[in-house]
Amino acid sequence: MANSPSGESVTQRIVRVLETFDADRPVQTIAEISRRGELPPSTGHRMVADLVDSGLLERDDAGRIRLGLRLWELAQRGSRALRLRQIALPHMEHVQARLREHTQLAVLEQDEALFLERLSNPRAVSNITRIAGRLPLHASSSGLVLLAHADHALRERMLAGPLTAVGPETVTDPDELRTALERIRRDGVAIAPGSIEDVSTGIAVPVRDGRTGPVIAALSVVIPRAAPTAGAVDELRSAAVRISAQLTQPPRT
Ligand code: PHB
Repeated sequence: MANSPSGESVTQRIVRVLETFDADRPVQTIAEISRRGELPPSTGHRMVADLVDSGLLERDDAGRIRLGLRLWELAQRGSRALRLRQIALPHMEHVQARLREHTQLAVLEQDEALFLERLSNPRAVSNITRIAGRLPLHASSSGLVLLAHADHALRERMLAGPLTAVGPETVTDPDELRTALERIRRDGVAIAPGSIEDVSTGIAVPVRDGRTGPVIAALSVVIPRAAPTAGAVDELRSAAVRISAQLTQPPRT
């Protein structure tokens, strides 16, 4: 594919355009996209027009741009995330019905915890997790589980820092984090009070691909800081076992 004068490929520039959108900026003008994507205005206009033609972006009545439904459609097709989410969802609903707290499913994606699903309760405690949103590995309970089971190279890279504080109790000391990750591997659960927000505790367990397979996801709840954790740990553990068992079954057509 033809490269721009800067040597960047067309694909890289398309990704840069798409990445200017996030949960806080779902709709933008072409000028905003060009500026945030660091593209000359004429290039921004041309690329946005092409992406709108192909359906990957959509234009609203006011001429502003958002991500297209076609992009979602293509991304869902056959993605490993879709199968995992579909299998996990009934078990997440069970956890959510029993505990009446936020319930999340996350996977490791480019050094962060990416959330595939979140079920909530309007009366539950504050929760910053968003579907298709990300949280740092060292700060969220899901991230800690994924990091504890990640390969050695990634773990060492993360431990080398910087470990930025997100909440008042985020572990930012590498030695302390290393010990916490060992404990999470040993106990099969991460309990992280105040690591993201002062008011809440994140609790996460690993989801394996099959009973003894590798850890491919983290199942978590966010509960009030003062609430007991034992019941939530039990619910999460049995849901994770059921999800893992179902993952080994061949997909039904
Ligand atoms: C967590 O996973 O530890 C977590 C996530 C979101 C919150 C609080 C805790 O708002």
